[in-house]
Amino acid sequence: MPEIITDTALAREALNKGQLVAIPTETVYGLAGNALSENAVNSIFAAKGRPAFNPLIVHVSGIDAVGEIAQGIPATATLLAKTFWPGPLTLVLDKKAGVPMATTGGLTTVAVRVPDHRLTLSLLEKLDYPLAAPSANPSGRTSPTCAVHVKDYFDTEFPYILDGGRCRSGVESTIIGFDKGQAVLYRHGAIPAEAISSVTGRLMVNYPEKKEKNPCAPGMLSRHYATTKPLLLSGDPLALATYLAPKKAGILFFRDSVQKNVCAVSRTLSPSGSLSEACHNLYAFLHELDRQPVDLIIAEEIPYRGLGTTINDRLRRAAKK
Ligand code: TXA
Ligand code: MG
Repeated sequence: MPEIITDTALAREALNKGQLVAIPTETVYGLAGNALSENAVNSIFAAKGRPAFNPLIVHVSGIDAVGEIAQGIPATATLLAKTFWPGPLTLVLDKKAGVPMATTGGLTTVAVRVPDHRLTLSLLEKLDYPLAAPSANPSGRTSPTCAVHVKDYFDTEFPYILDGGRCRSGVESTIIGFDKGQAVLYRHGAIPAEAISSVTGRLMVNYPEKKEKNPCAPGMLSRHYATTKPLLLSGDPLALATYLAPKKAGILFFRDSVQKNVCAVSRTLSPSGSLSEACHNLYAFLHELDRQPVDLIIAEEIPYRGLGTTINDRLRRAAKK
């Protein structure tokens, strides 16, 4: 099993040897390797059981490092980077030749971001290469938001998990691509679409469902973020649980409600109804409910505004058959 460590020097040594290390970010834990090494990148795909067409996000230490992997950067991308980095924003840019095709799943674009986590930033500053890091879960499963989630998922695939505590934000980065210099939303994430469009003025949405045959963010079509127990999404979870009895349901409520008290197994994402607190708790509570003696999980739909849209997106994908 990978060892949980807090020493970035150990992480650096392993990465320099071509090994993988799980790293903390403000969104979710990533499974990191040298983004410029085809071998390291291939080990990431193998460890996760990830299809080769699903490209990885490349993590860099700062905006100045982007020029080493990307070119022809649109002005809007620079503006977004200056506004949100370090932070949960991934930009899809034209790649430079030095980035292996294995990293980008065969695409000529590369996804890049500067994570907002003290330990990982200090690690990146000391490395001579950027880190490719998808979420540190087996392909399709619920993303990890603490070191123990990662440890529970993997056996001997890599030596270390760098422990940076619980992820602050708790859902993945927002992914933005560009079409003739115009910002396009590829994946809802920890920065609400409204915050992006307040900077770009205009934000086109090219969401995978709208483009089934040629998704902009490959890999977003398949089932994702899944618990081992079946998950259902409902506006009235308690009514659904009653209907499905004697099957035993664990309920994921959005906010405090009287219903909560009549349900044996439940978690409440945010008692006060805060969307950012709900994001922070989302994956941790899904991991917890999945381990309870229940037959299925029923999640309450969140209001579709701001980060609520991101949470519903993740729940819908986790519920996909
Ligand atoms: O918050 C995050 O983004 C986390 C942390 C670890 O940084 N990472 C993460 O990686 O969520 P992953 O592999 O679970 O999701 C990456 C997404 C995939 O949906 C992939 O299709 C998309 O990024 N992506 C990567 N490169 C792309 C590219 N060149 N064009 C379009 N989409 C891309
Ligand atoms: Mg993922």
